[in-house]
Amino acid sequence: MDDFLRRLPKAELHLHIEGTLEPELMFALARRNGVSLPYASVEAVRAAYDFTDLQSFLDLYYQGMSVLRTAEDFHDLAMDYFRRAHAEGVVHVEMHFDPQAHLARGVELATVMEGLGQARRQAERELGLSTALIMAFLRDRSPEEAMQLLEKASPYWETLDAVGLDSAERDHPPAKFQAVFERARRLGIPRVAHAGEEGPPEYIREALDLLDVCRIDHGVRCLEDPALVERLRDQGVVLTVCPLSNVRLKVVERIEAHPLPRLLDAGLRLTLNSDDPAYFGGGMLANFRACQRAFDWSKSTFIQLAGIAIEAAFMDETRRLSLHRRLAECS
Ligand code: HPA
Ligand code: ZN
Repeated sequence: MDDFLRRLPKAELHLHIEGTLEPELMFALARRNGVSLPYASVEAVRAAYDFTDLQSFLDLYYQGMSVLRTAEDFHDLAMDYFRRAHAEGVVHVEMHFDPQAHLARGVELATVMEGLGQARRQAERELGLSTALIMAFLRDRSPEEAMQLLEKASPYWETLDAVGLDSAERDHPPAKFQAVFERARRLGIPRVAHAGEEGPPEYIREALDLLDVCRIDHGVRCLEDPALVERLRDQGVVLTVCPLSNVRLKVVERIEAHPLPRLLDAGLRLTLNSDDPAYFGGGMLANFRACQRAFDWSKSTFIQLAGIAIEAAFMDETRRLSLHRRLAECS
């Protein structure tokens, strides 16, 4: 089974590239850039990753990324992750990135785009990995700032596979970003949003109705609203679920209590993802293994989930067909 899970061609649709920053690279980049960190060692960083909720994680996540300053840093961050993911049998990575968190530190959008762009081309060339880019708006900042970012990104509109919505969900409903998502829609940029991680089912409805998203990131709290579950099923909306993230951020108490089996039984289209692998205890393979251990799923369930990820990914149809073929060889 373990070998099967590694060989399974896995597409990752929900990942924050800044959340792939392992403590070792954090220290190396801090040294390279003369940034001081409030930790004595790599072990001390890992020991600090004891989260009580989403906000307690975000505080360390934004602090950690302070070491990212140059295009080379963003290249090294992404390339390090792509190599690890490739070794776990990941064939496609869609990465959210958080420009506002970098702009606030004086790091220009062009710097981030240059570094990530170089890494994406290298990953394609050296690893045969396809990638997509999702520019996220920080929902705990103003909608005006989000709109400014979208305009600032005009040289890159063609490069963006989607825009997304992340950061602290409580008290920051999707409705706040209706205008900026409408602008993205008019530009022809697809849209996704985090909803129903810590926020109520109502935020999932808003993301569908007001932001016109094609996927919901997390969405696990939909189960509190049976009519919403029915709607998600009827419309075939994909939820990008992140099991280990949900455990670490105390969205669920332990993996065995995760609603994944109930979401599957409800007939929803789900994918498995790592969210912030450096902070939440592992990448795609660790998430797949955790589900295998907790739910004792058969190979066919994993094939089904991997297939949905390939169907719902931002990729060209030639690539999609070739990944579907690779998946068919696994059964
Ligand atoms: N949730 C919301 N925002 C985020 C996350 C997350 O898990 N990771 C990075 N930004
Ligand atoms: Zn996320």
